[in-house]
Amino acid sequence: MKRIQYHRYGGPEEMRLEEFELDRPMARQIVVRVKAASVNPVDWKIRNGAMWFMTGRRFPRAMGSDFAGVVEAVGASVTRIKVGDAVLGTMSMKAGGAFADRLVADEKLVVVKPAALSFDQAATLPIVGVTAWCGLVDKAQLQPGQSVFVHGCLGGVGRAATQLAVSLGADVAGSCRGTAMDDARALGLSRVVDYQQFSADTLQRQFDVVFDTAGTLSMRDGRTLLKPGGIVLDINPSTGKLFGILLSPQHKMVVAKPSTEVLAKVVEMAVTGRPCPVIGMTVPLVKAIPALTALEQQGTPKGKLVITWHHQ
Ligand SMILES: NC(=O)c1ccc[n+]([C@@H]2O[C@H](COP(=O)([O-])OP(=O)(O)OC[C@H]3O[C@@H](n4cnc5c(N)ncnc54)[C@H](OP(=O)(O)O)[C@@H]3O)[C@@H](O)[C@H]2O)c1
Repeated sequence: MKRIQYHRYGGPEEMRLEEFELDRPMARQIVVRVKAASVNPVDWKIRNGAMWFMTGRRFPRAMGSDFAGVVEAVGASVTRIKVGDAVLGTMSMKAGGAFADRLVADEKLVVVKPAALSFDQAATLPIVGVTAWCGLVDKAQLQPGQSVFVHGCLGGVGRAATQLAVSLGADVAGSCRGTAMDDARALGLSRVVDYQQFSADTLQRQFDVVFDTAGTLSMRDGRTLLKPGGIVLDINPSTGKLFGILLSPQHKMVVAKPSTEVLAKVVEMAVTGRPCPVIGMTVPLVKAIPALTALEQQGTPKGKLVITWHHQ
């Protein structure tokens, strides 16, 4: 079996495509033959060692979170999923391992894939969909008719949050790079601004919810955008802002908490087209390291990077 792994924390040069031995599944785990995996910034943040206090110091460490594939074996206590099912899910942060031809996942982070979604599409959903859901539904309790501003609306989480907010009946505005404003309008945004020319004062007191997916809005700008009683959601606060956010009644930090319940909701909505998975580029696992390196170094994703494994 092959997977992308690394033997110490560090930059893209630490990634290796290597043979590995698959663990036997425990009682509530399943073995998946991976058909597709998608890339999230957290994958390289973990590899860089930014989360070593959660991910530990045992190497080699496997890379990758979100995946879709076919179940090959299940642990003794697994009842919800059976061998042969097409599934999608995400790996725990501690385990990683989606950039592989096989993986062992926790049953609680996996749901059955509907036939209406391809494996590539399904693999794009877990982290971005769950993050959008945790922010807009769990934290903000978004209601139809409310107004939302998505800062960074064309990133993975930004697209998912925009589409989820539109489908929940909100009026959605957002920011993106000036050259991509037509792509943003096509997502259903009623107003789009260029984040490089951004001035919060021109959008004063207009939003019930501000979703800062990029983590670049100052606390003052976030407050300026809010109607009375509104809230700012931050998924990526800078260390300088973190303390202020924790103390501010108008700011909430969102940490994605994947569960079968939320994954199932995200999948159900994806089948109806929102969030509609957007794939920017597909590469086979054997060519994934250069593609991962380019995305990490150059950013500006035009949709999700999907890694595929063509099994015989
Ligand atoms: N807390 C959590 O549980 C959680 C969950 C998921 C993600 N995250 C974090 O949230 C961040 C976003 O994730 P993602 O998957 O959406 O990443 P992504 O796909 O790389 O998207 C980032 C987006 O931010 C835009 N952007 C860059 N600079 C900006 C600025 N100054 N103002 C507004 N937008 C700007 C980018 O636009 P251009 O490419 O055009 O520059 C891009 O569209 C990452 O840091 C990720 O690690 C946190």
